[in-house]
Amino acid sequence: MLIHFETEASPGVRQYLPYDDRTQTLRQIKDYPRSFTRVPAQPLIDRPLTLSELTGPTEIERRLPTGNADFSCLVPGGPRALGQFMTVAGRITDEDGAPLAGALIEIWQANASGKYIHEYDSHQAPLDPNFIGQGRFLTDAEGGYQFRTIKPGGYPVGSNDWWWRPPHIHFSIFGMSWMDRFITQIFFPGEPLNEADLLLNGIPDPEARQRVMFEPLPTKVTKTLNILEFRRDFVLRGKSKTPELL
Ligand SMILES: [Fe+2]
Repeated sequence: MLIHFETEASPGVRQYLPYDDRTQTLRQIKDYPRSFTRVPAQPLIDRPLTLSELTGPTEIERRLPTGNADFSCLVPGGPRALGQFMTVAGRITDEDGAPLAGALIEIWQANASGKYIHEYDSHQAPLDPNFIGQGRFLTDAEGGYQFRTIKPGGYPVGSNDWWWRPPHIHFSIFGMSWMDRFITQIFFPGEPLNEADLLLNGIPDPEARQRVMFEPLPTKVTKTLNILEFRRDFVLRGKSKTPELL
């Protein structure tokens, strides 16, 4: 399906070509029954996009609280959550490499014990009273972002067979329009649990799997603090499409 449109604000035809399925997580994953109930059972129906889909989530920062980019403590300078202190930084651009300033990023993750702050999380692991585990903030003028957190732990998933999710952080990024919204999970390289994760390995192409890995950087020393540092850049699709596989 080729989706295209033109708006006054965006003269010229923008195109959303289909994703290359080799770069996307399989919609139905063997041994993960929930993946079969979470996707449409019937073929998708092509329909025109409406104005609300062609425009961005305008002034969303006025409707939702934004700005919290430190999940490692409840208040600045307060007691820190348990676990490995880390930062994540990166840059969000469009396909031409232009920075996406003011893009809304939402993050959520488990604590160091692999426990989410969510009523449906039944994992028998402790909550951390000093861990927030989620946040919402905007990219700067250069499309850059940075947040502080605690490295998440793995957690078990009940399915046909139990398996453990490897440590990962969930990202949702809003670009120029609702159609640009990008939701994904970013993983840590070298984690033993990566090898058996049904979702990570549900991305058929091995090179594409590397696109959902954090890049580890030398640890950052700030005065008396030494912090693990990771990087992840994102390219949002727009008038063309996601990068071709080599
Ligand atoms: Fe998760």
